Amino acid sequence: MVMLRVGMLTSGGDCQALNVAMRGVAKTLYKGCDDVEIFGFMDGFKGLIRKNYKLLERDDFAGILTKGGTILGTSRTPFKYINLPDEDGNDKIQSMINTYNELQLNCLVVLGGNGSHKTANLLSEKGLNVVTLPKTIDNDLYGTDMSFGFQSAIDIATQTIDCIHTTAASHSRVFIVELMGHKTGWLTLYAGIAGGADIILIPEIPYSMESVINAISKRTQNGKHFTIIAVAEGVISKEEAQMPKKKLKELRAKEAGKYPSAAYRLGAKIEELCGHEVRVTVPGHVQRGGQPNAYDRVLATRLGVKAAELIMEGKYGYMPCVRNNMIDIIPISEVAGKTRKVDPQSDVVLQARMLGLCLGD
Ligand code: F6P
Repeated sequence: MVMLRVGMLTSGGDCQALNVAMRGVAKTLYKGCDDVEIFGFMDGFKGLIRKNYKLLERDDFAGILTKGGTILGTSRTPFKYINLPDEDGNDKIQSMINTYNELQLNCLVVLGGNGSHKTANLLSEKGLNVVTLPKTIDNDLYGTDMSFGFQSAIDIATQTIDCIHTTAASHSRVFIVELMGHKTGWLTLYAGIAGGADIILIPEIPYSMESVINAISKRTQNGKHFTIIAVAEGVISKEEAQMPKKKLKELRAKEAGKYPSAAYRLGAKIEELCGHEVRVTVPGHVQRGGQPNAYDRVLATRLGVKAAELIMEGKYGYMPCVRNNMIDIIPISEVAGKTRKVDPQSDVVLQARMLGLCLGD
């Protein structure tokens, strides 16, 4: 008779298909075990720290395949402050261990991105049985070719560029669409290609204003009266890439009142240097919202099933991941603390260049 007590939480920024992944874990466990109790911790690690949880029933996992967000709620518990007490004075790490032990859990499932994997790894090092799942629209989690949320976010970002295209065709303007991605350019690169942007600027390839202005001028010379630029929120110029981190931080803080984000900074420069009228669109959290697309539903289900399989085998300390379209596993310790960036020499970047796209360098 297999009996299991499993804790589950979603941590960090939400994304599409979190519910799908949890459903995948739960359905597989219910099917494969004689007796399983799943405890859902509310609002990420906060729920584990504060013992804020509910015992989930089979019905809680019904009807959530198409539902965006997370039925458990989420929050950010920054790893750099993990050793400091929380607002209620709790020792965060010890409180999490205590909750786990008091509930006599066999395993904790953490659905999270980069920051959450550091905390999950710490808990694993402290002796807790942990299995994680890779979520993030940024696709910047090390150890997996893809995280769920990414493909749904690409769809939304692409639709945004598509809409800009129809209005751009009616006006002689430069349109800048700023996309999320934190410090990486996955989302911008893929949505930029899918939406037919003329210029794509990502953090992994620092841009020069000269190159951007040249690309706009070239389009004008070729009789194109508008230009669409897809820019990643974390983009930096070549000069900024040379600056010490501290200096760049100070510069950003100084500019913050004038330019709310990267697109506005870039737009002001373009207007100043070539006099084109510029319009900025920032879809923001829309990119994380709404239903998961079909791709993410399949991906999150496959990853969720794998997580359940690991739990049933008693194989802990792993994150199910994607490698060459197959579901594989990787130790959480290898994932934690690393960022997966776009390789400027990768196929997709070279193909974008061959197509004639300007990448700003
Ligand atoms: O990591 C996901 C993400 O949406 C990033 O793309 C973005 O930089 C960040 O989260 C926004 O965070 P918040 O929701 O806390 O504003």
